Order: sequence, then structure tokens, then C-alpha cells
Amino acid sequence: MGKHNEIEYALRMNAAHATNKPFSDSDCGRNLIRLGTIFTLLPPPPARLLDLGCGTGWTSRFFARAGYSVVGVDIAPEMIRLAEAARDQEGLTDLSFAVSDYEQLNFRDEFDCCVFFDSLHHAEDERLAIQRAFQAIKPGGVCIADEPGEGHSHSDETLQAVAHFGVTEKDMPPAHVVALGQSAGFREFKVFPPSDELAAEVYARRATPSASPFSEIAGAPELAARVPLWRRAWRGIAMLFDRGIRYPAWRLTTVDHLLLHIRANGLVLMRKPNATELRAAA
Ligand SMILES: C[S@@+](CC[C@H](N)C(=O)[O-])C[C@H]1O[C@@H](n2cnc3c(N)ncnc32)[C@H](O)[C@@H]1O
Repeated sequence: MGKHNEIEYALRMNAAHATNKPFSDSDCGRNLIRLGTIFTLLPPPPARLLDLGCGTGWTSRFFARAGYSVVGVDIAPEMIRLAEAARDQEGLTDLSFAVSDYEQLNFRDEFDCCVFFDSLHHAEDERLAIQRAFQAIKPGGVCIADEPGEGHSHSDETLQAVAHFGVTEKDMPPAHVVALGQSAGFREFKVFPPSDELAAEVYARRATPSASPFSEIAGAPELAARVPLWRRAWRGIAMLFDRGIRYPAWRLTTVDHLLLHIRANGLVLMRKPNATELRAAA
């Protein structure tokens, strides 16, 4: 039923809004920051890129414009119809789309990188989706998952989407993605704090202009002189966290929280072992 509802959703959604993402979306800035972050983590173009659960293909079109050779897949034929129309309108070449269930892909060692952007949390069986992504990328390739973490499935917006459309909505925290990646065969991982949340803290939530814009950094030169000391202190705190020793939460800034809660919410990058490592492991 879940997959059928994912397909039906595409027929009932606002197609103009979905096709004109990210510009049609109130989260445009955040989505551009997230995608920009992914660009900084991908192998440079030209490289073959698989966009998994691409929807109407806005991320695929950005990747293609940057010089990647892109294949976008989505389970919903209507999503792919819209993605192809937008591609043709923009005259993009080296960008193809296919209706496909990412839990049943048959690509083998074909891509330098693959991306789940807001799509893995719609999987019925995310273990299978990650296994298929592992198979699809070449030895040494990377898989990036930028997905909503803990709490997503209980948010008001999500509960409404489930009530109206019956789509699958799960929490997809990095700890879970990494565990599935390990069982699929990935051996190296990096987890980053969510870049849109970091940007919101540093820019949007401090955006009110004032007559003395530098007042909040008064004393900065003195502080800067002590930075190495502070860095060591924060590193120590992070190590205490790793050992399960609780540090009083009120001592930490919101940015510290984002950095320290990457098990629950963040972006995951996983690297497939290269050919030599695969041979050694066989
Ligand atoms: C929230 S949308 C995100 C789409 C796109 N990545 C974006 O950012 O606009 C989730 C997408 O995952 C697709 N999807 C859900 N289950 C899938 C599956 N098993 N295989 C492939 N795509 C799937 C849906 O059809 C939908 O287009």
C-alpha cells in the first residue's frame, strides 16, 4: 500500500510547485544550502551521478548543469514525466530519468556517486535501498544521504501528509543510515551536522539589523587569542559525550548541539571500499 500511495501522491500533488522547486518552496534558501553542501562533498564533475527518489528532478537538473552525467530514478511515473518535461524545456543533455523502485535497482558498479535527497525516509525497506545503492556505485564511490532525522515522523506536517496521502514517512537518523550502510558493505563514513540548521543559527536567527552590528563580538580579539584553548576544551567535551558522560546542556550553544547530535540528525556520506580493499576483504 505504501508504494502505491507514493505513486498516487504524484498525481494529487501541486505539480507546478513540485516542478519549480526549490524556488517555489518557502524552504528555498535552506534547500539551496543543503544542495550546495552536497556539491562540496561530491567527487568533481564530470562524474556519473545517480539521484535516488529524484521526484520532479530539480536536484538532478542542478547536478547536470554543473557537469555531472546524471540518472534520476523515482517510483512514480508522474514524477518522471514532469522531470523529463522540465529537462527538455531547459535543453539539458546528459540527464536521463527512469521510473524505478530504488529498493529493486539493478545497476552494478556504474556510478561514481549517488544521492538520497529527502527520499530514503519514504522507503518501505531502507535496508534494501542502501544495498542497491551500494551495488550501483563503483568501488571507491560515495553515497550521500541528506534525510530528516529523529522526530520527523511525528511532526504536524508529516502526520498531515500521512493522513491525506498515506505516504511512508519515517525518521532517518544518521545512526540508522550508518548501521545499514555497514551491513551493505560501506566501510568509511562521515556524518555532518545539517547545513541548513547551522546556517539558520548563524544567519537567519541573527538577522535583525541593529545600530551596533559588532557589539555582540565585543572583546573578540581577546577571545580569539584564547581560541586554541577553547577548541581543546570543546574537543574534551565532545569526548566526554562519546563516553556517555553528560555535560550540562545549558553550557552548550545551539551550534554545539547541532554538532554533538549528529547521530540523530545530519548528513551522511559513505564510501564504498576501492577495488584493492574489496579484494583484500574477499
Ligand atoms: C519527498 S520526495 C523528494 C523528491 C526529491 N528528491 C526532491 O527533493 O524534490 C520523495 C520522493 O521519493 C520517491 N520514492 C518513494 N519511494 C520510492 C522508491 N521505493 N523508489 C524510488 N523512489 C521512491 C517519491 O515518489 C518522491 O518523489
